[in-house]
Amino acid sequence: MSAAIDDDKRKVTTHRLKEMKNRGEKISMLTAYDFSMASIIDQAGMDVILVGDSASNVMAGNITTLPLTLDQIIYHGTSVMKAVKRALVVIDMPFGTCSGNPERSLEAAIRIMKETGADTLKIEGGAEIIADIRKIIGAGIPVMGHLGLMPQSINKYGTYTVRAKEKAEAEKLISDALLLEEAGCYAITLEKIPANLAGEVTAKLSIPTIGIGAGPTVDGQVLVMHDMLGLNKNFSPKFLRRYADLHSVITSAVQNYIKDIKDRSFPNEAESY
Ligand code: KIV
Repeated sequence: MSAAIDDDKRKVTTHRLKEMKNRGEKISMLTAYDFSMASIIDQAGMDVILVGDSASNVMAGNITTLPLTLDQIIYHGTSVMKAVKRALVVIDMPFGTCSGNPERSLEAAIRIMKETGADTLKIEGGAEIIADIRKIIGAGIPVMGHLGLMPQSINKYGTYTVRAKEKAEAEKLISDALLLEEAGCYAITLEKIPANLAGEVTAKLSIPTIGIGAGPTVDGQVLVMHDMLGLNKNFSPKFLRRYADLHSVITSAVQNYIKDIKDRSFPNEAESY
């Protein structure tokens, strides 16, 4: 097992993620929503790029993920797909597009796959939408499940706190995870749950688990790009590790640009025709 960045240039597939789990190699996953950032992230060696419905928050400025439309995720997905050569690209099914009507869910899933050219979809939920998930997988579309904190259900929870701390919710999460595996999901995202529970689920499943706020004993980790690059100053959950302070870097670059315009030092002779 190597801790280095994988220099295997072959396209990452759902099959390769399973192989990574089997040999104990951790899976890296990060969100992207546009061509330029997806290009950098892919070339840096990311295994999985998620066109998350967090686009609703970080790109569109909404408070929740709920307002994001099918057309909007297709727009982001299409931009990302133009950039990515190696990473597996996963696109979130937006709120309301997969919620207990398998025929309609399949229509939405097919639109995303056809119009973006994405590799796979991610869907929040367990037993309640298992018929939809079976229908989509039955049509040949790979699905990553998403359990634990499901931001599309924020109005039901009323809080973004850690999920499944109580026995009943933890048992339901384990049974949902087994159901998703049995339905044919190729991986499951586990969001904001106790590390012990995430480890227990990971050990029970033969498909990979990808954690966000789920501790170290999952098969891979995912973060929202804007959070890990430090573009968001006012979002600091315990699970977040910031790898850059782009808010400060960009603020300082923009202020230097303003200053250079104001004091007439930009453009200089070399920058003029
Ligand atoms: O939309 C998103 O960014 C996600 C991650 C939080 C996993 O679903």
